[in-house]
Amino acid sequence: MDGPQRACESGPLMGRARRGWCGTVLPLAAGGAAGHAEARRAHIVCGVASVEFLVLSQEDVVAAGGLEMDACLAVIEEALVLHHRGDTILPQKSALHWSNDIDTDEKLGRIMAMPAYVGGSLGMAGIKWIPSVPQNPSRGLPRGIGVVLLSDPETGLPVCFMDGTVVSAMRTGAVSGLAARELAAPGSSVLTLYGAGVQARTQLAGLERMLPDLAEIRLYDPSPAQTAAFVEREQPGRPPIRAMDDPREAARGSHVVVAATMAPAPFVTAEWLEPGMLVLSVSSFDPSLDAIDAADLLVTDDFAHETYHPSRPLARAEAAGLVTEADVVTLGSILAGDHPGRTADEETILVSPVGLGIEDVAWATAVYRQAEELGVGARQRLWEEPIWT
Ligand SMILES: NC(=O)c1ccc[n+]([C@@H]2O[C@H](COP(=O)([O-])OP(=O)(O)OC[C@H]3O[C@@H](n4cnc5c(N)ncnc54)[C@H](O)[C@@H]3O)[C@@H](O)[C@H]2O)c1
Repeated sequence: MDGPQRACESGPLMGRARRGWCGTVLPLAAGGAAGHAEARRAHIVCGVASVEFLVLSQEDVVAAGGLEMDACLAVIEEALVLHHRGDTILPQKSALHWSNDIDTDEKLGRIMAMPAYVGGSLGMAGIKWIPSVPQNPSRGLPRGIGVVLLSDPETGLPVCFMDGTVVSAMRTGAVSGLAARELAAPGSSVLTLYGAGVQARTQLAGLERMLPDLAEIRLYDPSPAQTAAFVEREQPGRPPIRAMDDPREAARGSHVVVAATMAPAPFVTAEWLEPGMLVLSVSSFDPSLDAIDAADLLVTDDFAHETYHPSRPLARAEAAGLVTEADVVTLGSILAGDHPGRTADEETILVSPVGLGIEDVAWATAVYRQAEELGVGARQRLWEEPIWT
């Protein structure tokens, strides 16, 4: 027999049927839209069979390259451009909140479910389930603890279940890095980080790659212990990281300002903005309404997703009647070359990336494929034979 039969005889296939297989086995990343369509056809299953999927622990995710920021930047750029071009499916997040207060995320935390499909060379469906527990760092646990499930978009079979904490933090850093590449003023050399938590690590990793003139990193966090630990861990091999006592002073003369905090109220005001400054609001209560109003250009990853969360900057601005969707540009449109982004060195630009399931599914897919290549992870049987078909 030809290829299909060989596939049947080759043993359990990841997320695919073993018996009754009637397509050839092609990697989903066969190349471009045509390759993707061909790969999707190849995943059609004619019969029932044993199914296995890959399970990746956090250590497996790291072993499969989950911390490789350069690769992550490329994958996230593709995902955002695909989103801009309509080759994604991104339903609204669903969230469990423990109260209806606007600052409930910062005080009580929440759990979010973020389903997405990403086309192009990625061609994968999936979901990130991510609890956020503000008290966790004091328990020695991360605030955000994600898991990702990837599913074959054609058959619906699970292909991978993995730690999503690394994936989530890495894609968040990559989004900021891409925004800085496109939108930081030429020669930007001073970067200020607000918050010395988990996201600050990947923010720095994403941003430093895109700020070729970076000469000084400033850090403000109200926790001296967090600040000291961050500086000690992250300093080697980098321009000086200065721990700042005063958040206002930390921003003065800075070219790129990034907030990834658990602050329950806005603190970056219009008075802080300086000509040419790029402000990235990774967390929610960072810029005040007057700062949003004063910015020359407003950018987000997805306006509907951003404004779904009442505490996000553009949601607060929309509720106050300061902005509509027409006033806001997407990062995907800039990456795709459909919007010029920064048009003058002195423009003040505010980016509010809420974080999208397509970003998680995209980077998780790349990590999963690398894990398959390297033979990393454990195989888990879904069924030997499904009891019902
Ligand atoms: N937009 C996205 O895509 C995205 C993705 C992941 C996380 N986030 C958000 O990023 C934020 C940080 O997440 P994390 O995982 O780093 O949390 P974390 O708990 O690890 O770190 C948060 C840090 O913020 C510090 N902080 C609190 N108030 C502050 C203030 N006023 N100024 C400066 N620092 C302050 C805390 O001391 C802590 O060190 C959260 O709000 C989270 O929801 C956004």
